This record gives sequence, C-alpha cells and structure tokens, in this order.
Amino acid sequence: MNLTPKEIVEYLDKYVISQHNAKKTIALALRTRYRRMQLSPELQNDITPKNILMIGSTGVGKTEISRRLAKMMKVPFIKVEASKYTEVGFVGRDVESMIRDLVVASIAIVKAEKEEENREKIENYVLNKIVEKLIPPLAFGASESKKDDYQRLLSVMEERVLSGEMDDQIIQLEVEKIHIEFNDTNLPPEMAKVQESFSRVFSQMNKEDNKKELSVKDAKVILRNEASIKLIDSTHINAEALRRAEDGGIIFLDEIDKIAISEKSQSRNDPSKEGVQRDLLPIVEGSSVSTKYGTINTDHILFIAAGAFHLCKPSDLIPELQGRFPLRVELEALNEDTLYKILTQTTNSLLKQYEALLSVEGMKLIFEDEAIKAIAKLAHRANEIAEDIGARRLHTVIEKILEDVSFNANEYKDKEFIVTSKLVHEKLDTIVENDDLSRYIL
Ligand SMILES: Nc1ncnc2c1ncn2[C@@H]1O[C@H](COP(=O)(O)OP(=O)(O)OP(=O)(O)O)[C@@H](O)[C@H]1O
Ligand SMILES: [Mg+2]
Repeated sequence: MNLTPKEIVEYLDKYVISQHNAKKTIALALRTRYRRMQLSPELQNDITPKNILMIGSTGVGKTEISRRLAKMMKVPFIKVEASKYTEVGFVGRDVESMIRDLVVASIAIVKAEKEEENREKIENYVLNKIVEKLIPPLAFGASESKKDDYQRLLSVMEERVLSGEMDDQIIQLEVEKIHIEFNDTNLPPEMAKVQESFSRVFSQMNKEDNKKELSVKDAKVILRNEASIKLIDSTHINAEALRRAEDGGIIFLDEIDKIAISEKSQSRNDPSKEGVQRDLLPIVEGSSVSTKYGTINTDHILFIAAGAFHLCKPSDLIPELQGRFPLRVELEALNEDTLYKILTQTTNSLLKQYEALLSVEGMKLIFEDEAIKAIAKLAHRANEIAEDIGARRLHTVIEKILEDVSFNANEYKDKEFIVTSKLVHEKLDTIVENDDLSRYIL
C-alpha cells in the first residue's frame, strides 16, 4: 500500500463527489503512515498518528469515504459505530472489543494472502481427496498394466472434477473437525480460551458421526477450508496479523456524536455515554489490549471519527477525547450541482444501478439529461423544505419516480423506457412543494 496522497484522492473521486478537504486529510494521514514505516525503528516509535475527526451533516459521504477506503486498502480496517459500545462493567460491548475486531480483520487479510500463495497446494489437496472418494483404491499387488490403467482413470477423473462435471455427484466425506466457530470477538481472551476448549470437546464427541454425504461441489468448499487449516501455519498468520494491525490498522469510529452529551439534552450526565468516552481515551492514546491471538499495542492505530453533530458540537465531547482527534475536517452540504454529479459521475451511480436492475427484465431504461437535472433540483429542494438528508434523498426521489415502471417492468420487455423531465415533474412536483407530503413520502 504505497499510493501517493494524490492517487488516493483520485481513487476516492471515482465514488465520492466533492468533499475534497476530507479526502485530502485522510490521504495524507495514510501516506504519513507509509512514510513512518520507512524510518528507523527508534524514530518509528516516536511518531504517532494524528487522528481525524470528520464533521458533516447526514448523507454527505462520511461513511461512504470510509467504505471506499476499506475496499481499496490492503491494511486492516474496520468501521464501527461508537453508539454500539457500553461502558466497561455494563452489559454490552466494551470498547476494547473494537481492537479485537481489528485483529480479526487483519487475520482475514493475512490468511487470504497466504491462501493465495498456497493456492496450488490447496487445490491439489482438494482434488486428491475427492478423486480418492470417487475411485476406489487399486487392489494390493495389481499388475503393471492394471496400474497404468488406474493412472489413466485417475487423470480422467481429475479432469472431470476440475471441470465441474462431477459437481452433483454425492460422496461420503469424513468432515475433519466440526468447527464450532464462536466468532464473538467481544469476549476477553480468557473466555475465548474456555470457548475453544468447549468447542474441542464437542468436536471429540461428534467424532463418530462426522461422516457426511455431500455433493462434490460442497465437498470442494469444505476441503478447501480443511486444506487451508492443515497446510498453513496459523501461528505465523497470527503473529503477522498482530503486527500489521499494530502498525497499519485503521479504525473508523462512526457516529461519534452519539456518545457526546449536549448541553441542551436532559440526560446531561448520562453516565454510560461519558463512560464510553472515558474508556476510549486509553485506546486512542495507546495502550495494550489482550486478544485471543496475543497482545496488541494501540499506539499506532489510526482513528478516524465521524459524526453529523446535529444536536451537539464536537466540544460536547469530553476535552481529553477532543484532544485526541487533532485533525478536523468538515464535509460540505450537497447542493444541486453536487447532487447532479453524484448521479452522473460516480462509478456505479444510482442511475446505473437502476438501469442494470431493469435490464434483467429486458427493459432499457434511459435517463434524459434534463430529467437528471430535474431530479437533482427536486432532491435539493426537498432537502431544503423537509430535513436535509443529503444524497440519501436521491434514493427516495428516484424510487418514487420509478415505482410504477419498476413494478410493471415485464410489460416493457425489449422496449425502451425514457425518463423525461416531464415525467419527473409529474411524479414529484406536488409532493415536493407540499410540506407534509414530502415529509412522509420522500
Ligand atoms: N459526496 C458524495 N458523493 C457520492 N455519493 C454520496 C456522497 N455523499 C453521500 N453519498 C451517497 O449517499 C448515501 C449516504 O452517504 P453516507 O452513508 O456516506 O452518509 P453519512 O455522511 O455517513 O451520513 P450519516 O451521518 O447519516 O451517517 C450513500 O449511498 C452514498 O453513496
Ligand atoms: Mg454514516
């Protein structure tokens, strides 16, 4: 992952319109981490990341930016909602569990890489096991010519399994270990260990009846998993995953405003919200968290927090927490022009999605440019009149316009349907301009 800030911004531009400041700040933060990794270990230790706080009203692209980053980057990245956590000691998820989730994400990345490296070995393992089931072994002491025949038979069968020709064939397979996955990373490591022992006991108990009838297709999936466990050393994966999460991990802490306590709100001293903020302090600042896979230090994990801050301000967070997010970026509200660009310039834009969905019914959906402009204009107007829900308004507006067409799509098989600005206005004018209607319908 050594994209330059400019390249990162260019990538984000494909999916998120405007919000240049936010993109730039984040891109820079990511590059800084790359730069840090090139330095001497001693200097590396002293350079801690500058966490970012993104502020912007609802539906302007905060979560979208993070979602796209997560897809692009090969570093461990998780997105969590601050409002989901509870103070230590209360029932619910404590904030340390987000670090454990990060480690799990990291493990998934490293594991996928290792599996890719070992792809051939894994596929061979799968193939051998399946062919073994399909062709009974050669009798002991068979003649040379029989052996040759057998070899030929094997390779024919291998071909057929590989091509998928045998996929529906049922075979009997000893499923190695009944893997009861307790994937609750919320548990502290001591508890996780207990669970693992339980799971081991259960799998022992099930040893007798773990012969399963499976189609070859399903067996491939199960055997691939088995091969990956057998052939790839998990201690190695764990160590590498911990290291990567420590040095390159990013936690996107969404809805941080939901744990702020506004001056106006009655529950001024809401203990659990403030408790969560306090619990966050050491983690954001840097502390050790023990996980099932080992201990991880959070010093260099980058935190990007985001919130709409409609009902409160960043200054309603406890001061210590505010201080731990020194970089602030504000996202702009979306105007008519940005809404138009969101519809026309993003990869897999909403319009393209609808066109693709309806093409399944054999229908060709076409949006006239004037119609798209009208959609942007009316969506913006609806945001002004009712609540400003940003680009999410586009979803509701387009859904309303296409409701009938979409319902009757089969009638348009092999035909074109052109969305004109006239249609857009017909469907929406009365709704948008009527305050009450737009509140309930759009
Ligand atoms: N600037 C933008 N460019 C492209 N699409 C956008 C933009 N802003 C929002 N969207 C689209 O609008 C929808 C909502 O955006 P997103 O989830 O990022 O909102 P948010 O800022 O996180 O709001 P909230 O505070 O309510 O969580 C997404 O489908 C996203 O694709
Ligand atoms: Mg969001």
